[in-house]
Amino acid sequence: MPRHPELAAIVSRLQGSVFSALADRLAGPFDELYPLHLGDTYLAPIAGARLEDFSVAAHPGLHNYSPPRGRRELIDLLVERTRERTGQPIERGNVYITAGATAGLSAAVFALAGPGDEVLILAPHWPLIAGIVRASGARAVTVPVIDGPSVVSSEVAIERLERATTAATVALYLSSPNNPTGRVLPPEFLAALVEWAGRRNLWLISDEVYEDFVYRGEHQACYALAPERTVVSHSFSKAYGMAGNRCGWLIGPEVVLAAAEKVGSHSFYSTATGAQFAAARALRGGDSWLADANQRYREAGFETAAILGIDPPEGGSFLFLDLGEALDERGLAGFLEDCSERGLFLAPGPSFGDYPTWARLCFTAVPPDATARGARLLREMIDRRVAPKSPATRYQGTP
Ligand SMILES: Cc1ncc(COP(=O)(O)O)c(C=O)c1O
Repeated sequence: MPRHPELAAIVSRLQGSVFSALADRLAGPFDELYPLHLGDTYLAPIAGARLEDFSVAAHPGLHNYSPPRGRRELIDLLVERTRERTGQPIERGNVYITAGATAGLSAAVFALAGPGDEVLILAPHWPLIAGIVRASGARAVTVPVIDGPSVVSSEVAIERLERATTAATVALYLSSPNNPTGRVLPPEFLAALVEWAGRRNLWLISDEVYEDFVYRGEHQACYALAPERTVVSHSFSKAYGMAGNRCGWLIGPEVVLAAAEKVGSHSFYSTATGAQFAAARALRGGDSWLADANQRYREAGFETAAILGIDPPEGGSFLFLDLGEALDERGLAGFLEDCSERGLFLAPGPSFGDYPTWARLCFTAVPPDATARGARLLREMIDRRVAPKSPATRYQGTP
């Protein structure tokens, strides 16, 4: 019985934002700030798709509600895009515009899982997914599949998934290109997992917000493999540099999206109308933006990895490092605090699963020259703490 001053019990199962706690520290003063902890971009959206480009006169209804499912124009563009990318006969009922992928994933999880259920989460994982599952009342069960610098074999991954599966398991969440590791799950690996999920009769929640940023390997659209059991989250935050607009979308079976829409209309109701106008504009004219961003991110990711002496990213915006050998008795928190005193901010490994000595670095948050200076500072801080050894054994590369 939650009563004043008690709060709802479920809140204690959710982590507060690790980033909010940093807000004061970020204020500085520093000669230069390296906020490499946040997954964002330094690039502005394409000209013509920025909020300043939309007027009420040219866009009637700009400040009115949009339909809960999303604006028809945007849905139609996404139907076309998804048909091209997946080869599946997508209709409007298979698309749901959401207030970012975060709200989309939340609506999808609440539509598919609840108290007494369990959801498998491939790890390392995007931090908020575990809390979203817990908020639904279901149990979040993490299953590590990225060890050391590479993804484990599909046989090992399935063995681990089998061990973690119980009669209560209802869904599997996976994400590729992966946040935080920068790895891309190989198509045959994904196909094996999808086949396994089919045998286990599980729903698949495939988080593909970084699908447009693949530097090595190949992105496999999960929906193309099992449209009857897959819900996919996408985002204009990543693809077109519009994180502040809060606009994303789900692709999935009609029945699931109808349920997700019921959930979403009781939380965010509908996605901001201006954000949907901007998203449609980006889809119509954003191909060259995407190609340019891809090139810039790839170069920044490769350069950052070279500075740190680790494997380059295969996709996405992040590198994930094991700092184990550089930690003293204060552990990761102490190391990250020392970094923050010099203006360098990284995301702590425990946000992504059981990674007490790891940290994530975003190489797209600030321009490449600033990212490189931040990476050099990190390298210096690691080298200072690690007893001299051969560079290859000093610290692990991205898993
Ligand atoms: C893997 C992953 N999924 C989902 C999201 C949420 O994206 P959005 O900004 O659209 O809510 C993020 C954002 O960082 C992410 O990295």
